[in-house]
This record gives sequence, C-alpha cells and structure tokens, in this order.
Amino acid sequence: MADSRETSLNKAFVCGFPIKHSRSPMIHSHWLKMLALDGSYQAVEVAPESFADFISTLKSGESGYRGGNVTIPHKEAAYALSDAPDELARELGAANTLYREEGRLKATNTDGYGFLANLDQRAQAWDAKRDRAVVLGAGGASRAILQALRNRGFAEIHVLNRTLARAQELADRFGARIHAAPMEALAERLVGADLFVNTTSLGMDGAEAIEIDFSMMAGSGLVTDIVYAPLITPILQMAQAQGRPICDGLGMLLHQAVPGFEKWFGRRPEVTDELRALVIADLEKH
Ligand code: ATR
Repeated sequence: MADSRETSLNKAFVCGFPIKHSRSPMIHSHWLKMLALDGSYQAVEVAPESFADFISTLKSGESGYRGGNVTIPHKEAAYALSDAPDELARELGAANTLYREEGRLKATNTDGYGFLANLDQRAQAWDAKRDRAVVLGAGGASRAILQALRNRGFAEIHVLNRTLARAQELADRFGARIHAAPMEALAERLVGADLFVNTTSLGMDGAEAIEIDFSMMAGSGLVTDIVYAPLITPILQMAQAQGRPICDGLGMLLHQAVPGFEKWFGRRPEVTDELRALVIADLEKH
C-alpha cells in the first residue's frame, strides 16, 4: 500500500466571534495526529465587519488556507460570500464548512449530517420507525435538524417554539411535512412520537425548568438534546428518569467536523471513543 502521508502543510481554520471556547481545534488536531498528517487547524477570531475581507484572502489564496469551519455569527455571511454553496447550504441560507476546489470557494453545511451521524452511531435503530419527530426550538440549529430529519424520511416533523412565528417560518421553508406549533401543544404533539429533539437552552437555568411527560411517545421513542455541556442536560435527565432511551448531543459536534477534515486534509477521520473522552475531559475543566 502506498504511503499516504502528506508532505506539504495543509492549513485550515475555524472562524467565529468570539472563538476561544471552540473545541474544533482540539478535534481536528487529534485527527491530524492520529492520521500522521502534516497539517494545521487553528482558531481565528474575526469580527463581523472584517469577515468579508477574511473571505477575500481565502478566495485569492493569500491566506494559505485550504478552507475552514465557520461558526456564530458568520454562517449566513459565509453562505452569501462563497462562490458555490451546495443544495443543503442554499436551502438553509447558512454554511459552516468552506473549501477551495477547482479555483472556487465551495460551501456546505454539515450540522444536519452531524446530528444524524451521532444518532446513527450511538442510538441503535433510532430511525427504524420514522412516523413522527418533535423538535423544540426554531433557531439556526433547529433548521439544520429539520432539514436532516425531512431528508431522512420522517413523515411528520413538528417544530414547537416560544415564538410561534419563527416555527411557522421554518414550516413554510422546509415543506409540507413540517408542522409549526406553540410550546403549549407539546403534550399533544408528543403522542406517538419516535423522536424528541431539544435545540433550546430550556431547562438549563433552574428558574426556567420545565416538566415534560414523555410517556405518550412511541414505545421506543428516543429523546436527544443538542446541548452537550452538561452532557446530560436537565431534559435528558428527565427522560432518563422516565425510562426513555436518550442520546447526548456531543457526537453532533464531533461528526459535523468529519466532512470538512476530509476536504482539507484528504482523509476521512473517525469519531472514536478516544476522541469523545478527550473532549469530555476538556468540557469538565471549564
Ligand atoms: P441556535 O442557533 O443555537 O439554535 P438561536 O437562534 O438563538 O440559537 O435559537 C434559540 C432557540 O431557543 C429559539 O428557538 C428560542 O426561542 P425564541 O425563538 O422564542 O426566542 C429558544 N429559547 C431560548 N431560550 C428559551 C426559553 N427560556 N424558553 C423557551 N425557548 C427558548
């Protein structure tokens, strides 16, 4: 077998504002080391007013980056400034992964992929029945998840939000299988649900603690939360106490990083227990 070790230094970045709490450098550095690749991945803090300039130097090649990840608050601008967003990014109006290819700056969004890959890896047969999913929250993360669940073939996806208008906007955008409802409809929408996803910070603050009765979900219905600090959120604790299968959200962060790494560094990395333990240890420090 040929030696696949890279000889030239490939550079990639994660760009956000602020960026210092990002775990992406830890994830990508781990993979570079495991695969013995000569590459670098660094966090770059770029203020909103400087983001267009940052993208210009990326496009021209002046920055020396092959591409990178983009996080809050630049995902919409990254989509708008890229030369060639794929279908996923176009529908979301947001990109989290940029890569230079064929002289153009291409863009995609891997959040939905990360969400599904986490469940595929850690929640056995979670999508064996795809009749009904319930998603709490209508922010940026919720969008990618609605798109992913629709593309995975869920028949009915209910999106519930404190501000109903935002949920309705997503139902309008993602098609007839998405149904908007206010928070008050939660108990009713959970009846027969195969999946419940929390994308909000609800329950994280003692004052906002809510009580959710998951008993009306389908027998094997899974509860997951995209918040991963703490790993077992109040909503997951509640579901666990009620005997529900649960899946924490850390794997979404780990898996969303995979496609970008493959584009910049040429090898598809694996999400292993070792990587997960590394990030958990870091989360516990802060
Ligand atoms: P993200 O991009 O991470 O999804 P976001 O766009 O700020 O974040 O969205 C946060 C989501 O959490 C929204 O659905 C928000 O509800 P509103 O649209 O009504 O603001 C929801 N959220 C945040 N705090 C909440 C709370 N205390 N109670 C209910 N929903 C809350």
